[in-house]
Amino acid sequence: MRYTDQAPQFVQLHHPVPGAVRPELIAGLQETPARIAPKFLYDALGSRLFDAITELPEYYPTRTEAALFTQHGADMARHMPAGAVLIDLGAGSCAKAARLFPVLQPAAYVPVDISVDYLRDTLRELQQRHSELPMLGLGMDFSTRFTLGAAATEWLADRGLAEQPRVVFYPGSSIGNFLPDEALALLCQAHAVCEAGGSGGGLLIGVDRVKPRTVLEPAYDDALGVTAAFNRNLLRHVNRLLGADFAPAAWQHVGLYNAEASRIEMHLQASGTQTVRWDGGERTFADGERLHTENSYKWDPEDFEALLREAGFGAPRHWTDANNWFSVFWAPA
Ligand code: AVI
Repeated sequence: MRYTDQAPQFVQLHHPVPGAVRPELIAGLQETPARIAPKFLYDALGSRLFDAITELPEYYPTRTEAALFTQHGADMARHMPAGAVLIDLGAGSCAKAARLFPVLQPAAYVPVDISVDYLRDTLRELQQRHSELPMLGLGMDFSTRFTLGAAATEWLADRGLAEQPRVVFYPGSSIGNFLPDEALALLCQAHAVCEAGGSGGGLLIGVDRVKPRTVLEPAYDDALGVTAAFNRNLLRHVNRLLGADFAPAAWQHVGLYNAEASRIEMHLQASGTQTVRWDGGERTFADGERLHTENSYKWDPEDFEALLREAGFGAPRHWTDANNWFSVFWAPA
């Protein structure tokens, strides 16, 4: 491959305003039952703890999905357009998408993450290894609204890529952390992004499946207590954001499968009565009272296929492992 000295470019559309999350956090703390949104699990330590979770023997999704890409990546690519603009949602280290470059042969790579700072070093290094592939890092909170925005659309047009098909890549079963209504809204937005490009685009998405409780619950309540630390660390994060005085050691991690709702629920349960104070307010939690911190929905393939169709996608296909624990869907726009 010819070295062109191309440098990746970056657009930051999300500019966090200090204090903007206070009303949202306080409203959740005052509800009954109290809740804190799962995005607050991911401060710097929370992101490292999540990486550690993916290495645990009990946490099957990451390695099961990786094996599916290794085993079926070439077959997946046969159903997808070559020369697409590959848009990677929640790209993080960009490693999952980069492994697909040889089979997908994208015309451009657009990793999307809440912060381009997180992408900067990875993308520079990736650009050196794939010197002819145009790359644009997009800083955006796509969980609230996903569009490419004017700057990215212009960047594609400037490179003659406006009419290329678009492949939205959303691995990791993160779609499971949205309520079904919110998941539908995000899928509709992903569909609109695909449709705005050339024909043949679509969505490649990892989805965790319904399975026995005996497999699910240890994955979210592991023997080493890494998931418990990940969950409790949210309280340290909230203490910093809100000037609150949660005592993380006084809260027990709960990770249970709610079969009726097809979801793992993570909670923090008060050990003894706790009065938590923050700048301008307080709440008393009774002994045993729970604070809801995350849902992780598990989908049957037929139900997920119906959701994709409702979002506007055409007939999807999916690849699964020998246990039927995880599926990767390709949904043409
Ligand atoms: C990021 N997300 C897909 C993980 C999941 O499995 O729902 C987050 C997680 N929560 C506890 N363990 C992992």
